[in-house]
Amino acid sequence: MYNSKIAGLGYYVPEKVVTNDDLSKLMDTTDEWIQERTGIQERRHVEKKGGDTTTSMGVKAAKIAIDRAGIDKNEIDFIVFATLSPDYYFPGPGVLVQRDLGIKTVGALDVRNQCSGFVYAISVADQYIKSGMYNNVLVIGSEVHSKGLDMTTRGRNVSVIFGDGAGAAVLSREIDTSKGILSTHLHSEGQHAEELALLAPGMGGRWVNDIVSENDPEDTSYFPIMNGQFVFKNAVVRFSEVIMEGLGTNNLQPTDIDLLVPHQANLRISQFIQKKFGLGDDKVFNNIMKYGNTTAASIPIALTEAWEGGKVKEGDVVVLAAFGSGFTWGSVIIRW
Ligand code: ACO
Repeated sequence: MYNSKIAGLGYYVPEKVVTNDDLSKLMDTTDEWIQERTGIQERRHVEKKGGDTTTSMGVKAAKIAIDRAGIDKNEIDFIVFATLSPDYYFPGPGVLVQRDLGIKTVGALDVRNQCSGFVYAISVADQYIKSGMYNNVLVIGSEVHSKGLDMTTRGRNVSVIFGDGAGAAVLSREIDTSKGILSTHLHSEGQHAEELALLAPGMGGRWVNDIVSENDPEDTSYFPIMNGQFVFKNAVVRFSEVIMEGLGTNNLQPTDIDLLVPHQANLRISQFIQKKFGLGDDKVFNNIMKYGNTTAASIPIALTEAWEGGKVKEGDVVVLAAFGSGFTWGSVIIRW
């Protein structure tokens, strides 16, 4: 038996900064409302024409992660790509990464678990390495939200939250099973699927031809919808549960946590969890202020920034936790 470890991390965000004041020119919102409710000050958006795509950002982040892992790109055995905003509805971006990295014909798997996507993707990669099947698995989370949001007052409860960006990790074999990824914990509750969703083009029975033939200008099914307060209430409960589940499995206590990197959904959610677990400010990493919620990319971007800032040291207990659309949620417990 082996463990897997995070051998290299990288992230990429587009250059264009969009402030809350920029958004207030497009819709009825204010910097004050956004900061007070979410903690977000600004986010990044790709250029509207000819800019980055979900795949291109993922590839840029991946190149940094591969370089830092100290391996050649052709030592990658498998690709796992998490996103809710793929370049194409199909095929998914995993195969585009295989092509754009110019590597041999390794398998490429797409994960679509929204804000929990990176945690699910890490769990998949971890199992392949633990079983001995692969040595190095490239895991990417990347999103282009800005092109799919309703940038009018109608969509303001969703569109102010999300930002674009990508993060990547190389998971490699770890022979010392007391180190690396100790366990992963995944959950879903499809009963609440429609509380945070983008309904088109499936729309529960309707398909593309139906939508095109109806040609309804009021059709908002191509925009994400969210019952914010309901999501918030579920998020704080599930985050807490799944962190405790992970700690319990490894005979750890909240006081053993050296760094918690929560999915960057809302600063208020992170602060609630921090308070509940009695963690100091230095033990919870947040960067939602700068990037907004980048869904599958948020944990790898945050983890990379934390690592670059020297906040992750050998032997540390690092906890990743996510909650999002599905509902899905999960945690990863790492001994760095
Ligand atoms: N600017 C100004 N006013 C706004 C805005 C805005 N951008 N958005 C909503 N409002 C208004 C509403 O219309 C409402 O007005 P009313 O009282 O006159 O009806 C008022 O503000 C309050 O709206 P709420 O939705 O109740 O605001 P809330 O305090 O719940 O904050 C938020 C909304 C930030 C979305 C919060 O509920 C939240 O963060 N929820 C969780 C999000 C989350 O965790 N998502 C999971 C991950 S995402 C994924 O998986 C894809």
